Amino acid sequence: MGVPLVIQLHNFERKVLHDSLVRHHGRINEVMQESAPTVWAALPVQGKDLVYARVEADIPNVVEKMVRDFQSIIGTEAREQFQGRHNKLPDYITACVGGGSNAMGLFFPFLDDPEVKIIGVEAGGKGVNEKMEHCASLTGGRPGVLHGNRTYLLQDDDGQILEGFSISAGLDYPGIGPEHAWLHDIGRAEYVSITDKEALGAFQLSCALEGIIPALEPSHALAHVMKIAPDLPKDHIIVMNMCGRGDKDIFAVAQHLGFDMG
Ligand SMILES: Cc1ncc(COP(=O)(O)O)c(C=O)c1O
Repeated sequence: MGVPLVIQLHNFERKVLHDSLVRHHGRINEVMQESAPTVWAALPVQGKDLVYARVEADIPNVVEKMVRDFQSIIGTEAREQFQGRHNKLPDYITACVGGGSNAMGLFFPFLDDPEVKIIGVEAGGKGVNEKMEHCASLTGGRPGVLHGNRTYLLQDDDGQILEGFSISAGLDYPGIGPEHAWLHDIGRAEYVSITDKEALGAFQLSCALEGIIPALEPSHALAHVMKIAPDLPKDHIIVMNMCGRGDKDIFAVAQHLGFDMG
């Protein structure tokens, strides 16, 4: 379309592979040099621009709905393909939840199918407890207002927003899209958390058994699938959104597993 595109990456080190891949596809005109270690820290940088598109579900109406509707191609296609192949709907659908975009994209076309159980998987970091070293806004936060949303947030007793912690660059945000907060409150979707350690285990298993390097974000969802699948009836089918590849994460994983990448 000839429209110049400037992208600000919130974690330059971990996203540098994304950057070079997208550049090679010719879609970035400029990458802002400023960077920040987390999504949360990146917001003041983004705020300097009057016009920006933060492509997440955790921003106020109507952008939140636009993100959901664009992303819902994931759920619509998954639904169609699943029905075509199995002549029924899946028993479970699941996805990792940072701001909530990929999960909402999968969940949305299934919301009116009560037989389909919906599970969102948050980043449990070092554990969901009072130390708050996690990014599990629904399972370890409480309601508040941030960036124009009323939703669940990581916050201290005075309502000050906490940074949270996760091994995964994309899940390290202290809030969650308000539509997820609503699904949580009405009980339509269940939200659980997975720790860094569990996500790393799923990452390694997927590499070893499938030859697929998953991003650390969906590794959280995969870890939850590994947790629940053994206790489900054999004919149950879980659809999990493998929402990103893990090339960008190999350095972080090596560091956490103690490998020397030179
Ligand atoms: C691969 C991947 N999955 C998931 C997410 C989390 O975002 P959301 O919950 O909005 O889908 C990110 C964010 O950067 C990501 O890079």
